[in-house]
This record gives sequence, C-alpha cells and structure tokens, in this order.
Amino acid sequence: GTTLGASAAEKGRYFGAAVATGKLSTSVYTTILNREFNSVVAENEMKWDATEPQQGRFSYTGGDRLVSHAQANGMSVRGHALLWHQQEPGWAQGMSGSALRSAMINHVTQVATHFRGKIYAWDVVNEAFADGGSGGRRDSNLQRTGNDWIEAAFRAARAADPGAKLCYNDYNTDGVNAKSTGIYNMVRDFKSRGVPIDCVGFQSHLGTSLASDYQANLQRFADLGVDVQITELDVMTGGNQANIYGAVTRACMNVSRCTGITVWGVRDCDSWRGSDNALLFDCNGNKKAAYTNVLNAL
Ligand code: XIL
Repeated sequence: GTTLGASAAEKGRYFGAAVATGKLSTSVYTTILNREFNSVVAENEMKWDATEPQQGRFSYTGGDRLVSHAQANGMSVRGHALLWHQQEPGWAQGMSGSALRSAMINHVTQVATHFRGKIYAWDVVNEAFADGGSGGRRDSNLQRTGNDWIEAAFRAARAADPGAKLCYNDYNTDGVNAKSTGIYNMVRDFKSRGVPIDCVGFQSHLGTSLASDYQANLQRFADLGVDVQITELDVMTGGNQANIYGAVTRACMNVSRCTGITVWGVRDCDSWRGSDNALLFDCNGNKKAAYTNVLNAL
C-alpha cells in the first residue's frame, strides 16, 4: 500500500491517529488524516470531564462529531477512555466511597450505551497501575472505592455494548517490568474468572530508546488470549526516532494478535509532547523519516 491505513489493512490491521475535532476544519490536518489513517480516537473528547461535565448531564458533541467523521470516511473508532484518574470532572474529583462507585459505573453504562455499535474497542480503564517497582495499583479516588473497581467497570461496559472490544490501557509497559507484570497478572486473573476483557493497550509514549523485549512483552499478553494494540504511540525526536518507529511497527506486525497501531496526533505541532516533535508529519504536513520507516514495516 501507499498509505499507512491501506498498508495496515492489507495485513488485517488498522493504523490510527488521535484527533482533536476542532482541527477537522484545518485542511492540511484533515487531508493527512483522511489520506493516511483508517482509525481514529478522540484525544480528549470522550473523556469523563468532556462527556459528563455535571453529574448526570451528558455531553456527546465532540465524540459524536468524531464518530460521524469516521463513519463518513470508512474509519474505525477507538473509545478513550471510560475511567481514568485524570481528567475526571470536578464533581467526581470530590467524591469517594459508594457514591463514587455508583457514579463511575453509571458513567460507564451511559457512555458505552450512547456509542453502542460504533466503537471498535473501548479503553474501559486507563492508567490504573503504579509506576516503579511495586507492580500494584495506583492510588486514586477510584482505587479507594475497592480493588474490584476495574472488573466492575469491565462488566458494566460489556453489558452496555456487547460488540465493543474492552481494553485495559497503560504506559511505561513497554517491556517486561514490574508494572507490566502487575497488569499481566490482572489480565490472567480476569481471564481465569470470566471477567470480560478482550485487549490490552500499550500507550508507547517513548523516549530515545526502545525496550529490547518490547515484542516479547506484547506476545506474553497475546498468549493470555487477549488482543494487543499500540494505542498512543509517539517518540521523542533525536537520532533514533525513525528507527524506534520502525521497530515498534515491526513488533506489532510480528505478533498476530496485535490488531493495530494508533499514533497520538497527526503533525508534530499537534502533539501534547510539544518540542519533542514526536509524530510522523512535520508542522507543514510533510512526511518525516519516521513515516517512511513505519510504512516500510507495515
Ligand atoms: C493527553 C492529551 O493529548 C492532552 O491534550 C491533554 O491535555 C492531556 O491528555 N495518556 C493518555 C491520554 O491516556 O489521554 C493523554 O492525552 C496522554 C497520556
């Protein structure tokens, strides 16, 4: 293929980008998006603060706009994210205990129901594990409602949209380490007890090197019986950027259950990482060396 999306599709996979719907009226941006990508995710517009700004008052304007754009252009949609300790609306930040538990499950149910049938895969829970050597959960008001909050969220999401793949998504999980092993143990436990989980997302916000066991780590999760996806790929600029992009793409292609790759934005100047210039297109919309390496690896 001559584009990322078409090349990935030839291998039964997708190649996606995170989108800010406010940029869809910028022609350089949308021209690249529509030409190169066959999957999208909302960079912010399906998060809790955006979709339920006041308790029980739901707002789907941005999310619906992105779904419409995707459907009109033959793109699949990843849903991001039903529950995350960041970008909680203010009203939820102030809650705890059984009131928060009810509110968060209601959020999962309402949002997954609204988008039912339109989402390829949901990040049901985002970033719930701690960094460092503990391998345990991150402290948050969500975690303090009880260790079973993650499985309760997955069960609610399955009931609301049985057709969506349900993913757990996190960062600093790029090799076999304490954090990724903690998540691995949770997924293994969920599979053994019949808690509905279909996929694990590896955000892959990368620096100037790539863990040598990146592919092996994807494979050990796939061997548990879940799909894996690269969900938020971006790579710090520098001598290795193009090489790392190529290596990540090859790793996914080498794992049969790695179903797709999403980059976290279109052009360098769209990236949350600012001066890292972490994406595949420069600010003028030109393809970078990293783009060529990705295309050649698909
Ligand atoms: C980031 C967005 O890119 C920013 O626009 C926003 O201000 C903060 O969130 N991990 C995630 C994403 O799961 O949702 C984050 O997105 C980047 C880190």
